[in-house]
Amino acid sequence: MNTTGHLLRLTTFGESHGPALGAVIDGCPPGLLLDEALIQVDLDRRRPGQGAHTTPRREGDRVEILSGVFEGETTGAPIGLLIRNHDADPGAYAPLKGVYRPGHADFSYHARFGRRDWRGGGRASARETACRVAGGAIARAILAREGVEVLAWVEALARVTATVDPLTVTRAQIEADPLRCPDPEARIAMAAALDEARAARDTVGGIVGCVARGVPPGWGAPIFDRLEADLAKACLSIPACKGFELGDGFAGSQGRGSTHNDPFKMTPQGLRVAGLKGGGIDGGISNGAPILFRCAFKPVSSHGQAQKTYDLSGAPVEITVEGRHDPTVLPRAAPVVEAAALLTLADHLLRTRALGRAGP
Ligand SMILES: Cc1cc2nc3c(=O)[nH]c(=O)nc-3n(C[C@H](O)[C@H](O)[C@H](O)COP(=O)(O)O)c2cc1C
Repeated sequence: MNTTGHLLRLTTFGESHGPALGAVIDGCPPGLLLDEALIQVDLDRRRPGQGAHTTPRREGDRVEILSGVFEGETTGAPIGLLIRNHDADPGAYAPLKGVYRPGHADFSYHARFGRRDWRGGGRASARETACRVAGGAIARAILAREGVEVLAWVEALARVTATVDPLTVTRAQIEADPLRCPDPEARIAMAAALDEARAARDTVGGIVGCVARGVPPGWGAPIFDRLEADLAKACLSIPACKGFELGDGFAGSQGRGSTHNDPFKMTPQGLRVAGLKGGGIDGGISNGAPILFRCAFKPVSSHGQAQKTYDLSGAPVEITVEGRHDPTVLPRAAPVVEAAALLTLADHLLRTRALGRAGP
């Protein structure tokens, strides 16, 4: 339940308002340059309090490396990471201790485990994703040696959709604004939509786009471990992620085969598939085109309006969820989606190498 990956394995632990979160990354190749600063870059992009539209919870999210690194390089031993919860404030959740918040995992966790940690969602809280982002930073370092770059951005927010070219979009364009939308016009409209939602004590959802450039043909696995299936699982395991599409995805289902197939092209590196409709994967294995996918995120469950629900005894009650919440999770979800892609791709790289790839 708390471990993902086959050869590059990430295990996470910790609760939102407990003393700390942590991760163990096992299977990282030795000799990789790694220090806290490298992981911190990605963690800083996920942490709360980055702009007007994210929760004011002020956490440094400082990562400590406990093991697996010696003299600045990975040793091949498990890498232990710790992120202490300095800004935990469980008292803010005490009034909601006895009720099930709609849209949260309060009821379903209780149904599954017969108890629940009511402090900010406990294990169900998206604070756990800090550990994925930390693990993703290590996966990024593994993939960088292969010339693979993974970028995620906010493609849609509320009803505003950005125009983004996945072939050319850059980190600088994405990080130019806390909304993480690389389309300057769209992000003005997105900011207005967020202001409007906040004024109505409401929240909005949206779509994160993600591209992996530089993945050569031949990474992945057939049948149950298809690369897109593993990417989808990694993304759909992110809290609030409710949809995944590869390449043209749902829009592609409206088209025709005569115009849908991505063509081949001969490049100096050999034969590649060119085009983004298929999302860079055929039969569960990369085809050399950029891997492109999108994730839909629901509106944040904790909005500021009164909601009808039930308490633990089964009595109907009305609640207003106070506390520290984002009007949208989208800008902070982008680095988490990136981490999901990084971990999945790095695992498949190692699995492909382990099996010995023949090549065309
Ligand atoms: C980066 C990130 C931050 C989140 N922050 C909040 C938040 O502040 N308030 C909230 O209600 N939900 C937040 N969520 C979503 C909830 O954690 C999630 O909706 C809840 O645990 C129920 O899980 P589910 O929506 O996947 O079913 C966040 C999600 C992500 C990815």
